[in-house]
Amino acid sequence: MTSVLMLCLGNICRSPTAEAVLRAQVAKAGLSQRIRVASAGTAGWHIGKAPDSRSQAHAQVRGYDLSTLRARQLCEQDFYQFDYILAMDDNNLADAQARCPKDAPVKLLPLLSFLPEAPSLNVPDPYYGGDQGFEQVLDLVEQACAGLLATLNSES
Ligand code: 4NP
Repeated sequence: MTSVLMLCLGNICRSPTAEAVLRAQVAKAGLSQRIRVASAGTAGWHIGKAPDSRSQAHAQVRGYDLSTLRARQLCEQDFYQFDYILAMDDNNLADAQARCPKDAPVKLLPLLSFLPEAPSLNVPDPYYGGDQGFEQVLDLVEQACAGLLATLNSES
């Protein structure tokens, strides 16, 4: 079993989107018994809340159901329980690196490192923007998850 934790700031926009997208791709590839997917935020502001309604609406148009997901905060156990922690942007990555215990074997990487043609390693935060930002999150996350899945497949 390989496990992947998607990480952003609030765990209500980008990382729940990435969780649902990767889970759908994993299911489509028939790998649900082999790849576990979850998400968390570096901040605790939205703990227990469902994803942002805008993220839910944009994802639903592409066939992803985010409604059952609930926000939680990154915790120390995550560094031991997941094989990969994939950060949506530089800030999330730096926060996680600062909290990562030295003996944890986790691979802590930007999600967009699995999308070599991406213009930067950041999935832009859509929270204070408009519709286009939520579409951009879906575009980047769908492509990066396809690259990630190819990597996970080649490892196992
Ligand atoms: P996320 O977006 O990190 O993609 O979940 C945000 C959600 C909430 C806030 C910022 C970013 N906030 O400031 O509450």
